[in-house]
Amino acid sequence: MQTFQLDKQASTVQAKSYTRGDWQRGYESLAKEFDYWIDDIEGQIPQELHGTLFRNGPGLLDINGQRIHHPFDGDGMISRITFSKGGAHFRNRYVRTTAYLEEQKAGKILYRGVFGTQKPGGWLANALDFKLKNIANTNVIYWGGKLLALWEAADPYRLDPYSLETLGKEHFNGVLSEGQAFAAHPCFDPSSTQDNGAPCLVNFSIKPGLSSIITIFELDTTGKILRKHTHNVPGFAFIHDFAITPNYCIFFQNPVTFNPIPFVLGMRGAGECVKFQPDQPTRIIIIPRNPKHKEVQIIETHSGFVFHHANAFEVGGEVVLDSICYESLPEVEPESDFREVDFDALKPGQLWRFNINLKDETVSRELIESRCCEFPTMHPQKVGRPYRYLYMGAAHSESGNAPLQAFLKVDLESGKRQLWSAAPCGFVSEPIFVPRPNSRIEDDGWVLALVYDSEYNRSDVVILDARDFNKGPIARLHLKHHIPYGLHGNFTSECFL
Ligand code: CO
Repeated sequence: MQTFQLDKQASTVQAKSYTRGDWQRGYESLAKEFDYWIDDIEGQIPQELHGTLFRNGPGLLDINGQRIHHPFDGDGMISRITFSKGGAHFRNRYVRTTAYLEEQKAGKILYRGVFGTQKPGGWLANALDFKLKNIANTNVIYWGGKLLALWEAADPYRLDPYSLETLGKEHFNGVLSEGQAFAAHPCFDPSSTQDNGAPCLVNFSIKPGLSSIITIFELDTTGKILRKHTHNVPGFAFIHDFAITPNYCIFFQNPVTFNPIPFVLGMRGAGECVKFQPDQPTRIIIIPRNPKHKEVQIIETHSGFVFHHANAFEVGGEVVLDSICYESLPEVEPESDFREVDFDALKPGQLWRFNINLKDETVSRELIESRCCEFPTMHPQKVGRPYRYLYMGAAHSESGNAPLQAFLKVDLESGKRQLWSAAPCGFVSEPIFVPRPNSRIEDDGWVLALVYDSEYNRSDVVILDARDFNKGPIARLHLKHHIPYGLHGNFTSECFL
């Protein structure tokens, strides 16, 4: 099997758009919790921008000075930016998970992390300790009147959207059991065909093993379960994200194997025992959303690794899927320091389109964007449907691998691009598209994102006009502090103050 091909120029050496020191500063802990109206604003917040942006990500990169091994092991911190009448309010709070409370009280690391954080005391102190630390750090959604912090290997934590106080775990009236996984990447179907066009939330949980169990959940707008069905797929599966169409859930089973021995012996985190298999194909798993249709299709394509899918849709007998693909999964080494990562030694994530023919069980693919990119997002009403505009975090330079410093808008119809870059001092996070109220044009709205400004060691909330990145931000809201690089979040038109 061949791997994802890169553009030739991807290996060309060029002047860097950033310094490592600037980039590293965005990985300092933010222990303090704030609550204030943002008063340092360049430009103007649009009056029509009304609602709340929630963000989640690892806020602590150390426990009382003991460094954690990888940011993915950091405790979840929710940031909330509320927009109302041309003003904006900021609040952040940690998710009070059981482990967070215990470790803060003890003032030291008590849990092993999936990505290599170990308790002090060497391998002997860590061997045979399989307790999982639910860190609730990957995504935050507002659904069915509930604000939920998600981490893919365990159950969600529910928070009060006003105070951000942690209320406890959420099991959707017994749909989930204690500790059961609920992925951090739900899809919001704007118009579910099985529910007469009502919106619904689709998510999954995965139980990896020699064969892996995938459970699909669909919830209505009140948070009530509509459908739940379970499927067994052959082989070990490490799946972070998926995509939906009106009729299907689509998963990439990346070619990896899991060797638990170093984990059992206390020498590596479970995530450090996952090994990429470049000679093996990726399996595309297609599960019908209607539980009456039980037949799961598995179609092979080229080797590679995907964390995030942008979107999928159906055209005739084909499923079209857009995903950010890597040539391989970078291995996290126990001795390595993530802040010293050699960007040039890694291959960039690039946007590919897969055309999956369900009848012939064949796949063709094309490279859409060769620039290093991640965190693809789009218009919320276009999830699972043909769509035109895609927004992503991207590298400043056209080629090579680098930290994300820019936002890229891709017009999938015309092929046109727009880029706004925060280089050399700025480092970006996932962009969120918010439609202008009553808009009819797909890109009529704003792109909201947190951007870390290393020059002032603070983060900005940046608002771009989604129709025109070239004119630069229409507003930059300077926070009084930085926010460590985060993961995912969502916008709701409800205003929480
Ligand atoms: Co993700």
